[in-house]
Amino acid sequence: MTFELPALPYANDALEPHIDARTMEIHHDKHHKAYTDNLNKALADHADLQDKSIEWLLQNLSSLPEAIRGAVRNNGGGYWNHNFFWEVMSPNGGGAPTGELAEAINAAFGSFDEFKAKFAAAAGGRFGSGWAWLVVDKGGAVSVTSTEYQNTPVMEGKTAILGLDVWEHAYYLNYQNRRPDYVSAFWNVVNWAKVADLYAAGK
Ligand SMILES: [Fe+2]
Repeated sequence: MTFELPALPYANDALEPHIDARTMEIHHDKHHKAYTDNLNKALADHADLQDKSIEWLLQNLSSLPEAIRGAVRNNGGGYWNHNFFWEVMSPNGGGAPTGELAEAINAAFGSFDEFKAKFAAAAGGRFGSGWAWLVVDKGGAVSVTSTEYQNTPVMEGKTAILGLDVWEHAYYLNYQNRRPDYVSAFWNVVNWAKVADLYAAGK
């Protein structure tokens, strides 16, 4: 297999009560696994593409054979997005960013609370399935964006430093239709140390 499903970096129940164990189990073991398996299936007859990185594939979709382009966009995007998502959460998460990341957030949004409001609006305003993101540009400026389906900032050459999955599969068992409650709970598990590392590497 070309791409492997990474293990969750913590136990299924580690993010409770904010994200419940059953949701994490299904999300990782079923949904993330399906994206991984289907990405590998799409590449099965394309040996020349199997040694490419996932980032390369997502940034060169237009050069891929048309027959697999959609499958790589959807499943490769899903593969990358979920790899990323698990890493920016932690059972020791929450609180607020510090240092140069906090300064960049204040510069862009005015305050941490204003940033959270803008990010929550992006997450809540994404109609249907998609993601909310915090990205950094090469000058160190941060901004909020969102993508539909499993599209990802990687496809646009952007550097994501925080992401939130707002597909119903990410929250429906525990929150049903209350996406705003799920978004509020997310702040309790954000791994700001990881986000700061991504900021430092990406700016
Ligand atoms: Fe998901």
